[in-house]
Amino acid sequence: MREKIAVLMGGRSLEREISLASGKRVCDALAERGYRVLALDVTPDLVQTLRTERPDACYIALHGKYGEDGTIQELLEFLGISYTGPGVTASALAWDKSVAKRIFVEAGIPTPAWITLTADAFKETGAATALDLVPEAVGGFPVVVKPSKQGSALGLARIESDADLPEALLSALSFGEAALVEKWIEGPELAVSVLDDTDGGSVVLPPVEIVAKSGLFDFSAMYTAGETDYYVPARLPDEVAAEVVSLARQVHDLLGCRDVSRVDMVVDADGTPNVLEVNTSPGMTEISLLPMAARAADMTFQDVVERIVRAALARSG
Ligand SMILES: Nc1ncnc2c1ncn2[C@@H]1O[C@H](COP(=O)(O)OP(=O)(O)O)[C@@H](O)[C@H]1O
Ligand SMILES: [Mg+2]
Repeated sequence: MREKIAVLMGGRSLEREISLASGKRVCDALAERGYRVLALDVTPDLVQTLRTERPDACYIALHGKYGEDGTIQELLEFLGISYTGPGVTASALAWDKSVAKRIFVEAGIPTPAWITLTADAFKETGAATALDLVPEAVGGFPVVVKPSKQGSALGLARIESDADLPEALLSALSFGEAALVEKWIEGPELAVSVLDDTDGGSVVLPPVEIVAKSGLFDFSAMYTAGETDYYVPARLPDEVAAEVVSLARQVHDLLGCRDVSRVDMVVDADGTPNVLEVNTSPGMTEISLLPMAARAADMTFQDVVERIVRAALARSG
């Protein structure tokens, strides 16, 4: 029998159900490849279970808070068990959109104009003062309001005028201490997946173009079959497609991603791809974007999962 892999899934995040679906498929893929698979819903007895079972590596199929933000990574470092995806720092950087976007700007990577507003600023300076900052920072409407640390478009809204801003901000701030107001970019949306090679390089899978029928790729558009059309590879002019691929690899490296990532982008009217965010534990469900891209590159789901897990195993002492 091959190595023992614990697949971590579920947990307490708002994306628990998605993670259970990702985890189930990852378990099946690993079992088909002959690994000994331990499916672990993340509950308070996780540490005890890992200490008893001593897996050779953990596959992190968690999405969202605690799974993608560096928390579980820190725990696994402490236990001395290698795991898939980036380490503590890169996970935390990518998870916090306002931090990641500051890093993009410093590196000259296009990202939509934005302002970060914290719940404290909102309370201390008053909502009116905080909202006065928005037009200068972001330009005109429409804008997107979203929690700085969240996924699956939870707490995210597209806002057409300043009258709707306070409510959207309060809703985004209910998910955490900081929210972004970001310029809406009208143009093709792309999800670009990156897989590391064993030799230190990486491959960028064909970009997936996303067309939500409602006009907004929200939670329902992401997870309800038929609400969104996907084009793989994306319908882009050659030079834009080349730029998208190079940008994805650059962003993956810049944040210190490892094994796998998915970079979300929107191409603006000038043909410039703008990076929205980087996902360090991309969805692996039946209708997720990374598996879709892999199929277009003639990689099976099992190939992808095995490649990711081999990278983690190569790091195990
Ligand atoms: N600035 C923007 N311009 C256009 N669309 C956006 C913008 N920000 C977010 N979106 C839309 O909302 C979706 C979710 O936003 P994203 O920043 O990727 O956060 P999440 O972590 O929730 O996936 C994106 O996939 C995109 O469809
Ligand atoms: Mg996203």
